[in-house]
Amino acid sequence: MKILVTGGAGYIGSHTCVELLNAGHDIVMVDNLSNSSEKSIDRVKEITRKDFEFYKCDILDYDGLTKVFDENKFDSVIHFAGFKAVGESCEKPIEYYHNNMTGTFILLRVMKEHGVKNIVFSSSATVYGIPESVPIKEDAPLFAINPYGSTKLMLERALSDVQSADKEMSVVLLRYFNPIGAHESGMIGEDPNGIPNNLLPYVAQVAVGRLPKVNVFGNNYPTPDGTGVRDYIHITDLALGHLKAVEKKTGVSGVHIYNLGTGQGYSVLEIIKAFGKAAGKEIPYEIAPNRPGDAAICYADATKAKEELGWRAERGIEKMCADAWNWQSKNPDGYR
Ligand code: NAD
Ligand code: WQD
Repeated sequence: MKILVTGGAGYIGSHTCVELLNAGHDIVMVDNLSNSSEKSIDRVKEITRKDFEFYKCDILDYDGLTKVFDENKFDSVIHFAGFKAVGESCEKPIEYYHNNMTGTFILLRVMKEHGVKNIVFSSSATVYGIPESVPIKEDAPLFAINPYGSTKLMLERALSDVQSADKEMSVVLLRYFNPIGAHESGMIGEDPNGIPNNLLPYVAQVAVGRLPKVNVFGNNYPTPDGTGVRDYIHITDLALGHLKAVEKKTGVSGVHIYNLGTGQGYSVLEIIKAFGKAAGKEIPYEIAPNRPGDAAICYADATKAKEELGWRAERGIEKMCADAWNWQSKNPDGYR
């Protein structure tokens, strides 16, 4: 298949491109490099020993995107491009709504004009808000608790409406839980700008000496050790979920929704301990105030993806931490 990958230079996009290329698909990548480095693209080529075309293009640029579609005939689009930081979305809601929503609308318009009817969209467990119960199934109640989450929830709805109006379309909504880790080569990985917001990159930067200690956001949650519990999933397993989704659902009309998680929760303290073991060092930490808007516990029921896509996460927490450490220790300053 020939697949357009928007946001392909980013964390999840780059790992997904590796798996698509390894499986023999042709890809074309579009990214404006607003939150990524061109080096990740070179490294995807190095890992796979395959070449592909990269367009430095903003998905908000209708003419630029039209050129990409004029020059290529795509079977499907995997759409990662967007902003993703929850805290920043509260400070810059207009930028988040514009980039994530308008960008997706322009992409959908260009797809329609070129008769491309298959899209796999990066949604998020954030659409479950503060879950009422766990494990979370795809039919659990949905609500957004911040502007970033609103963009995902509204885009899920918009994509479903677009599919209702064109019954030949295949829309896959993948709700990721907490992706962590790196490709096992240590050549590509997560490279956040500035101080990381998410737990794993923060712990990794403490381990490598860039930050002094981890702030554990609260130890008074109703969980076994009082710290927040999440469903961390190895980035390669997540990438393979996209491969399965695009292979199984291209040409299968409808709206297909899947949780991509492991179904297993780990607490913040368990993660710090597992990472320390992988890195062979103690990770200093301190209990800090709870972060507003955090759920106590969140993990997936990923049975539907197993039954319908034949996919399940296979890499455990030790491998996630070992690969994250391999990437961080080989690239202490990320791609810089
Ligand atoms: P990322 O920031 O590493 O990748 C996103 C990529 O999109 C970047 O390379 C960025 O330069 C590009 N981009 C942003 N706006 C663009 C635009 N207007 N035009 C072209 N390119 C643009 O983020 P990621 O972690 O790889 O996330 C990918 C997708 O998955 C995002 O939509 C994100 O919301 C979603 N998601 C991420 C997580 C997570 O924890 N990482 C969880 C759930 C969902
Ligand atoms: C995990 C746990 C924190 C940092 C976010 C988005 C979600 C999705 C994935 C995009 C929580 C605790 C964290 C720190 C800590 N992204 N923590 N100290 O909040 O589950 O999910 O990323 O769609 O939408 O909200 O991930 O990694 O920020 O936090 O104690 O420095 O670690 O309280 O319990 P989260 P996270």
